[in-house]
Amino acid sequence: MLTQEMIDSIKKVEATRQERLTMDLPKMSAEEKSEVLKKYHPDFREDGFEVLKVGPNKGEKVPKQLCHLLQGQSRISGKNLDLSKIDYDVDVLVIGGGGAGASAAIEAQAAGANTMIVTKLRLGDANTMMAEGGIQAADKENDSPAQHYLDALGGGHFFNVPELLEKLVMDAPGAIKWLNELGVMFDKDADGTMVTTHGGGTSRKRMHACKDYSGAEIMRVLRDEVWNREIPVVDYTAAIELIKDADGKVAGAVLENMETGELLIAKAKTVIIATGGAGRLHYQGFPTSNHYGATADGLVLAYRAGASLLYADTIQYHPTGVAFPRQIYGALVTEKVRSLGAQLVNVDGVAFMNPLETRDVTASCIIRECSTNGKGIPTSKTRFGVWLDTPMIELLNGEGTIEKRIPAMLRMYLEYGIDMRKEPILVYPTLHYQNGGIKITPDGMSDLENLFVAGEAVGGIHGKNRLMGNSLLDVIVFGRNAGQHAAAKAKETSVTGELSLGHIYDYEAEMKKAGVEIDCVSPKLLPTYTHGSKRNIENN
Ligand code: FUM
Repeated sequence: MLTQEMIDSIKKVEATRQERLTMDLPKMSAEEKSEVLKKYHPDFREDGFEVLKVGPNKGEKVPKQLCHLLQGQSRISGKNLDLSKIDYDVDVLVIGGGGAGASAAIEAQAAGANTMIVTKLRLGDANTMMAEGGIQAADKENDSPAQHYLDALGGGHFFNVPELLEKLVMDAPGAIKWLNELGVMFDKDADGTMVTTHGGGTSRKRMHACKDYSGAEIMRVLRDEVWNREIPVVDYTAAIELIKDADGKVAGAVLENMETGELLIAKAKTVIIATGGAGRLHYQGFPTSNHYGATADGLVLAYRAGASLLYADTIQYHPTGVAFPRQIYGALVTEKVRSLGAQLVNVDGVAFMNPLETRDVTASCIIRECSTNGKGIPTSKTRFGVWLDTPMIELLNGEGTIEKRIPAMLRMYLEYGIDMRKEPILVYPTLHYQNGGIKITPDGMSDLENLFVAGEAVGGIHGKNRLMGNSLLDVIVFGRNAGQHAAAKAKETSVTGELSLGHIYDYEAEMKKAGVEIDCVSPKLLPTYTHGSKRNIENN
């Protein structure tokens, strides 16, 4: 139920709406952006981070929860594993069953490699499935990969690894073609032309979408393709450590059956980590738009084995998570709502910024509005939100636009008696994406021989802030890329000598020497939401 304060504020939003419809909201200068980021973005809050004491990134800060996991106790610690008893022996082992894992497996198998996917939940239980707004690709006449490159470079604050970004934008049109031919039902005009829109920070309309469930539609098709190709999928089974061979090359993984706890050994010529993000670690107490399994497992496995991370201290808080009602607190309100014309409006009915600034800047402005500016709308005893003026969409684009273009959003809110066609909705930033991750080269390989990485577990493609629609794109481009290269490498490599977990024991010794106080077992695998225990997110 809306509070009286909300109802009074909605009247102010309605009173300014007509004037705002034709208002040109200026974009911020570089100086203004930098100032608001430093003051309000959670990445700049020192108390949200801790410095790593061991490993390749020793001395660098990472989010507290991630630091504890990277320096946690291995799940195999104290267990006597017989590495000569092999349960699975494949060419390419793909860890993770989301968009990147599926794309990698499809390509690896197509290249003739004996490929297997292992996933701790089910194929498709992943952030890809949750993606809403779309996938970028410069495939229209007024656009070019160079333009796409410049947009993403600016959005990433010029920290993007140039070769990775180049690959992303150059392969984007091919990725859309591949998905379209596999059967993804993209939004198209009557003549078959793809419908494309803007996202925050884009200079051209290059967002291809499947209404507002783009990720679910893409994952549906990828999952079908994996099944049609009869690629083996071992589900409800987590990878808990990497295994190396006698030469120190990555050569498989220790697996844990999530139902029975049984430990299994998978031997592989090459391994691809595609384990996704970290939203369920609830950094700095934020809610999340992520799926249930997003607990940064791949980063833990790779780091312990000696792979470097890049920009692991940069996190994306999506500006528009649900702030009200509380039952769906933190769920994603797609950026497409803003690209269709909805403005961000404060308690007084004032549009306080251009709604299509990049995500980090937009999230920071919302936090500013709700904190020091005192212009947020209370949603509970301690929480605030700002309005996203959704009725503007129908006024700008015609009646029926919301139902046609963002039907899932409409349905989600109607469940709670809120009709976004007629009334604005309340939003606040939600933990959405891990900008940083495992460092790779353009062939998808990490610092470690025969360990490839794809999708959200990779760091560097997006610099320090990703633009909308470049994540669905990167899972396809770098998923396929990792699959192709891992398959090619598997043809020319062999597992040497006996399998080994020596790197785990070396890492444990390094932690002991550095005086690390271990306070958790990792990888975490599933989030902690047990009733009565100290909760990750503030409960009010
Ligand atoms: O807002 C969104 O629909 C999210 C898209 C993305 O993270 O790429």
